[in-house]
Amino acid sequence: MDACTNNFINKLLFAILSIIIGGISLGELVNFITPFHKKAKREYLPRMMDEKAKCMVIAKQYEFDYWDGDRRYGYGGYTYRPGYFEPMAKQLIEKYKLTNSPKTKILDVGCGKAFLLFEIHKLLPKANVVGFDISKHGLAGAQDEIKKDLFIHKAQDPYPFKDKEFDLIISLGTLHNLQIFDLKKALKEIERVGKKKYIMVESFRNEQELFNLQCWALTCESFFTPEAWVWIYKEFGCDCDYEFIYFE
Ligand SMILES: C[S@@+](CC[C@H](N)C(=O)[O-])C[C@H]1O[C@@H](n2cnc3c(N)ncnc32)[C@H](O)[C@@H]1O
Repeated sequence: MDACTNNFINKLLFAILSIIIGGISLGELVNFITPFHKKAKREYLPRMMDEKAKCMVIAKQYEFDYWDGDRRYGYGGYTYRPGYFEPMAKQLIEKYKLTNSPKTKILDVGCGKAFLLFEIHKLLPKANVVGFDISKHGLAGAQDEIKKDLFIHKAQDPYPFKDKEFDLIISLGTLHNLQIFDLKKALKEIERVGKKKYIMVESFRNEQELFNLQCWALTCESFFTPEAWVWIYKEFGCDCDYEFIYFE
């Protein structure tokens, strides 16, 4: 089966699942960051065999080692590559009809170094981009132009924003790092302050991908299938578009 057919079948299955689940409307399965995720090569077993439990403790601090230390602790050096996320920023702007106006507000929950937010800012300089994260080193690595719009905050704590203040909330690779009780708090806040929402988390579709994810993930607390994630979004009342990255 080619990638296009596979993608179509996945979308169809999710649409059917959303109808079966009923209740609040759910967004749709989207495909923004998967092409970027697929570019990296990962050796799963060597990672698992390399004192992984110790590496996880260090990674979960989300500070220097996680971002810019050895690959065994996280990114292995994460520096800004001009324009790298520009195609994705353009896709988000088009999909969510974001305009270059001071009235437009975009929030990134768990923005890290906020490289995607910066690409959005470059394309929509008049719009308000805001981001928060728990990592001081992450935020310090953001581009100077948007640093003033970033702050330290936990995804599960109440957000200092009004109801439906943001046109779009994005959260990439962050929410699977929360335990289920914090996930509920975060999703409720995201729903409260965002008109449209797009969330990407790590997931698995079969035993091999679960095994690979367990080998690779340093910080993940919530290991769920896509079906379980969709159930969680609905159960916790978050009407978001969603994407999953897999470890094939
Ligand atoms: C894989 S990184 C993704 C960063 C960014 N979204 C990106 O795509 O480049 C995961 C991020 O989640 C953040 N994080 C983990 N737990 C968090 C929490 N409870 N609240 C806010 N951010 C959190 C980490 O500091 C880190 O920046």
